[in-house]
Amino acid sequence: MTSADIKFVLELPSHAAAIEEINAEAFGPGRYTRAAYRIREAGPHDPSLSFVAIRLGDVIASVRMTPVVAGVGRAHLLGPLAVRPAFKNQGIGRHLVALALDAARDAGSPAVILVGDAPYYGPLGFQRLAWGQIELPGPVDPARLLVAPLLADGASELRGPLKHAGAGALVSPMAHEVQRTAKRAGAR
Ligand SMILES: CC(C)(COP(=O)(O)OP(=O)(O)OC[C@H]1O[C@@H](n2cnc3c(N)ncnc32)[C@H](O)[C@@H]1OP(=O)(O)O)[C@@H](O)C(=O)NCCC(=O)NCCS
Repeated sequence: MTSADIKFVLELPSHAAAIEEINAEAFGPGRYTRAAYRIREAGPHDPSLSFVAIRLGDVIASVRMTPVVAGVGRAHLLGPLAVRPAFKNQGIGRHLVALALDAARDAGSPAVILVGDAPYYGPLGFQRLAWGQIELPGPVDPARLLVAPLLADGASELRGPLKHAGAGALVSPMAHEVQRTAKRAGAR
């Protein structure tokens, strides 16, 4: 259960610096070498599926979602997910994952993939992806490559190298609205 003074909202451009700090604190410099990071750095995440937790005006946790493809299959890559240490174990991480999954489902995404701890993500709807079905650009422990299918057989078309889907993949109307708002804000 999360505390009443914590609000969950879609990520905005103004949250970017705080999110960077939270991820640096949670993962350190080693984050840049992770296989999932190498996919994420190839293009933008989707702000219409990415959320932050805010307390008293401060961003205290974040989850991002990035559109990906593998063969003819498409999906979203969840992560980074990080919560400021002072706010751990209050259900914030779980709630962010649930929001991201619901938003991806509403946007018609077939599946959500991540590299993470099965004991944490299993109860949130994730299971192991068959080893060898997709390839990441770097070593990954097979036990940590997880998928939450959002449509029936949502992961079955994912085959081969997992890649960023490209900026053109941000097709949900909400993503365009977020991008337009960001441009307007930047123009002021
Ligand atoms: C992992 C993380 C996001 C969890 O966020 P959180 O808000 O503290 O988690 P929640 O409150 O939703 O859930 C807490 C529960 O998850 C468990 N948990 C936390 N991290 C876990 C992990 N890596 N593996 C298994 N269980 C985990 C806690 O022990 C707790 O269990 P309980 O409910 O039985 O007491 C947070 O600890 C964090 O930012 N860690 C550093 C970054 C990171 O590892 N991100 C995940 C990358 S895969």
